[in-house]
Amino acid sequence: MLIRIESQDINKRDSELLKKAHEAATKAYAPYSGFKVGTAVRLKSGGIVQGSNQENIAYPSGLCAERVAVFAAGAQFPEEEIESIAVVSSSPQADPKSFMPCCGCRQVLLEAESRQNTNIKLYMQVNAEPVIISNSAVNLVPFAFTFMKGV
Ligand code: THU
Repeated sequence: MLIRIESQDINKRDSELLKKAHEAATKAYAPYSGFKVGTAVRLKSGGIVQGSNQENIAYPSGLCAERVAVFAAGAQFPEEEIESIAVVSSSPQADPKSFMPCCGCRQVLLEAESRQNTNIKLYMQVNAEPVIISNSAVNLVPFAFTFMKGV
């Protein structure tokens, strides 16, 4: 289930994560789409890893903000659990009602959860619009791809 919370009702800790994601979005490299996305991953230890979408002239070679951040967290802190992830955009094209991680990123978020065996809380926000919250990536991927039992 997803819930929607007004930005002023978000607690300080979560607002801080959203702020880090908005800051990350300013560092996106998106000259082709013009659509900037920022992500902030909060680790159980409290550390925060930021990511933004990075595009390339050979279009499929680019990567979404969520995967940049989640893979960076996995590469730098392989033993650390991810507690929560904020995904945001302030680009004019972003629709606050439908702004969600793409399906490729959902699959990656889902696998991060199953690797660590605990839920990852997700926060999605456009500008200072209400925040959409999911308690788990499972809510975003009802029929996930797998070819291995338990992954
Ligand atoms: N993008 C993300 O960073 N995250 C998503 O979940 C969806 C799309 C990026 C990829 C591309 O650089 C731009 O947004 C337009 O699709």
